[in-house]
Amino acid sequence: ELECKSLEEKNTRVEGLVDAEIPSIFRIPQSTLSDKNPSVSASRFAIPIIDFADLAASREFVVGKVKDASEKWGFFQVINHGVPLSVLEDIQDGVVRFHKEDLEVKKSYFSRDFGKTFIYHNNFELYSSKNGNWRDSFALYMTPPNLPNPEDLPVACRDAMIEYAKHTMSFGSLLFELLSEALGLNSEMLKSLDCLKGLLMAGHYYPPCPQPDLTFGVSKHSDNSFITILLQDQIGGLQVLHQDSWVDIPPIPGALIIYIGDHLQLMTNDKFKSVEHRVLANRDRPRVSFGCFYSSQMNPNSTVYGPIKELLSEENPPKYREMTIPEYTKGYVEKRLDGTSHLLNYRI
Ligand code: SIN
Ligand code: FE2
Repeated sequence: ELECKSLEEKNTRVEGLVDAEIPSIFRIPQSTLSDKNPSVSASRFAIPIIDFADLAASREFVVGKVKDASEKWGFFQVINHGVPLSVLEDIQDGVVRFHKEDLEVKKSYFSRDFGKTFIYHNNFELYSSKNGNWRDSFALYMTPPNLPNPEDLPVACRDAMIEYAKHTMSFGSLLFELLSEALGLNSEMLKSLDCLKGLLMAGHYYPPCPQPDLTFGVSKHSDNSFITILLQDQIGGLQVLHQDSWVDIPPIPGALIIYIGDHLQLMTNDKFKSVEHRVLANRDRPRVSFGCFYSSQMNPNSTVYGPIKELLSEENPPKYREMTIPEYTKGYVEKRLDGTSHLLNYRI
């Protein structure tokens, strides 16, 4: 409690906590330290990499790959996705620029209220988790196809975010079409269920950590989204849980990582998997990532979601009860990062 308070007073940021010992709120409890089992080398598994350039030759081929990856892994990397490299570089630079801003500038955005357009928050799960994460983040909530009002965004990342948002909207639209087809549904199905209507964009900055073995960049979790589109830099540290092993996601220049989130696992009645992932802290270099979470979590009139009727049958009855996204989000945030999936609370 005291330490939480002093963290808030120190401007609530992880960066700058570069003493030889990390504050105890960031320490993983001894009982779960053993979960930090060594990762297996990527070579043991063929991590799905899908080349969207293949769409020109055969959409069916690409849909097959998306289906396979979404069912077996719950994530895949996409290359040749159409978002220009310069746009990816600009957003990464924008994240760094914001995090290097003067304290006073950053403080003016500090909030844990996701109802605001742009917030700088550190460890929004701090009070509900066993330990804090070694990262600082900002988040912007928007409602596509509306773009955010530039005035609401800090100058350091304003242009980069608006440009990135435009590209994410068209890439996201294509992804929901391919995912619908991968489920054997009409291409427009997921879009018609309002999956594109809310978008949370988050810039993460993971400062170097003096005791990387005692904490995480971010602890194990699955995402509160339909899907997440993640851009990571070349540092590494992101891992996914696959067949009970933590598998490194090797950085691929220019690639985007797609995760199936909790909402889509629920809607597909477990056909697609919302994969658990985490980020290791590292001693030497800061790491930057940028996540786009499709989720209408701030929409009070959210559609009611349950397993999609067309996917159900007598042999495949609904495994989940219905929910709205704001309701799901509330529970997710309250219990976040306690080591179990919030999806379990919706199991019939
Ligand atoms: C997250 O899943 O919260 C972030 C992933 C990353 O930074 O690579
Ligand atoms: Fe995540």
